[in-house]
Amino acid sequence: MARISSLLINGAKRPVDADAQSSLLSVLREQLDLSGTKYGCGEGQCGACTVLIDGVPRRSCLTPVADAEGKAITTIEGLAHGDHLHPLQEAFLAEEAMQCAYCTSGMIMSAKRSTETSAAAARILASSPPCSARPA
Ligand code: FES
Repeated sequence: MARISSLLINGAKRPVDADAQSSLLSVLREQLDLSGTKYGCGEGQCGACTVLIDGVPRRSCLTPVADAEGKAITTIEGLAHGDHLHPLQEAFLAEEAMQCAYCTSGMIMSAKRSTETSAAAARILASSPPCSARPA
């Protein structure tokens, strides 16, 4: 059975030892301690497990880890730069948009893609504090 031995996560190559068909979510949470990505429904419906793979939001609960091998995976832990939150994280805090907060990381990861493609969402970024992670 094929095994996956490393993943590119938040800009760093990380060693893993996973069956190729394991869910990306399980590898993130159980092997890499990236617990910001949440397990909700496990059926691709709720979005709590959303991460970016090569910049595209994907439900990590339904994504075999083999599909993410060799691609750039971004989790919620990869958005902030040191003490500087990503503008979307700042906006969620400013607007108290957390609700219970369980799904917040998935919402932010989905919104990140939207802000890169939507003029309305870009206004959120424009009104946020400067951030070195903001796209030019
Ligand atoms: S856990 Fe609900 S979509 Fe993945």
